[in-house]
Amino acid sequence: MDNRPRHSQRVASFGQSIFTEMSALAVTHGAINLSQGFPDFAGPAHVKQAAIAAISADHNQYAPSPGLPILREAAAATYQATYGLPVSPAEVTITCGATEALFATLLALIDPGDEVILFEPAYDSYGPNTIIAGGVPRYVRLEPPAAQGSADSSTLPTDWTFDPDALRAAFNPRTRAIVVNTPHNPTGKVFTRPELELIAALCLEHDVIAVADEVYDRMVFTGQHIPIATLPNMWERTVTINSTGKTFSMTGWKIGYTLAPPALTDAIRRAHQWATFAIATPFQHAMAAALTDALESTYYAELHRFYAERRALLVDILQAHGFGVVPPAGTYFIMADIRPWQPASDVEFCRYLTTEIGVAAIPPSAFYEQPATAPLMARFCFAKELATLQTAAQRLALLAPHPAGSS
Ligand SMILES: Cc1ncc(COP(=O)(O)O)c(C=O)c1O
Repeated sequence: MDNRPRHSQRVASFGQSIFTEMSALAVTHGAINLSQGFPDFAGPAHVKQAAIAAISADHNQYAPSPGLPILREAAAATYQATYGLPVSPAEVTITCGATEALFATLLALIDPGDEVILFEPAYDSYGPNTIIAGGVPRYVRLEPPAAQGSADSSTLPTDWTFDPDALRAAFNPRTRAIVVNTPHNPTGKVFTRPELELIAALCLEHDVIAVADEVYDRMVFTGQHIPIATLPNMWERTVTINSTGKTFSMTGWKIGYTLAPPALTDAIRRAHQWATFAIATPFQHAMAAALTDALESTYYAELHRFYAERRALLVDILQAHGFGVVPPAGTYFIMADIRPWQPASDVEFCRYLTTEIGVAAIPPSAFYEQPATAPLMARFCFAKELATLQTAAQRLALLAPHPAGSS
């Protein structure tokens, strides 16, 4: 007889996240961790001071469930000032990172059997969140651009693209929501205005809600970040999600938020109150100060310059060592073509890179419904000190030249 405690069917198909696996492997083998998307440098001193001040001032009891008014005001003011979105603090809900924002949103929207359209590769929580809510993920593929320097690069797109007909075909009477992650993890794609207009038109035609995951909106290097909520008639049917963890390099504080019109905000708050109820009070104070300061200072410009420098360096390093790389339009990730080494799979290559070369990367097949159909690539994160990237470069020099011999 099997004496193990029984778990629900709901969680039966959920394995360990690839981020957990690769980060643990990196620690065991002393590898430079360019896998999981978190900074290895200190967050801004003024933001840390604001948290210390909030703790010292005894802001240590439960916050209101929707979030502190000053933080909701700061988040609303940020979208108003940056994108001209006339959002009120009453339409903001503070969540435990973008992770809970996504979870509460999908729980709030989805009934059993409803479909949610996801662009594949898809950030790894979207599928499980949809399934927990009783929904069915429906994937539309993003195809990679040609790597720079390859023979056919002049005729092919320079960013990841999707087939508009495949997207149209994915919408049907059961479709309830579409997740629009721009800038997109893991590909670095920044959705263009025509692409967003097509998505918006389909949402309007089929009465579908857009869930806009915009956690990398401050890291755009080519093109422009356009919140889908700013397109005509889309505010009423969009939940916009952001995370101060990414913007202020404090991923461990887990302060995220949703922006949504009153009816959707009401639904999200119903789910949020029974998931976490309220989020850490002193960190909400600190992020209110951080967002307010950033609108009046050069913080965002400096963050952008900081990441642009690291993006350029890691692109150079990877290209110099034989990877096919198209510089990402946004995010702090680079998807590199590993076909030159002809590995059996991206998982095998990333394990080899971590354990034998000492540089950890993420195998993007983890972002695909059917991993075997993923292109052979590895995802590297450049939210790292320059010295970390330079050490990674020294280690990549140990990588055997691939059969094509270009490294
Ligand atoms: C696209 C995307 N959405 C959501 C999240 C989760 O954000 P948070 O750390 O605020 O929960 C991440 C984190 O890596 C992400 O890349």
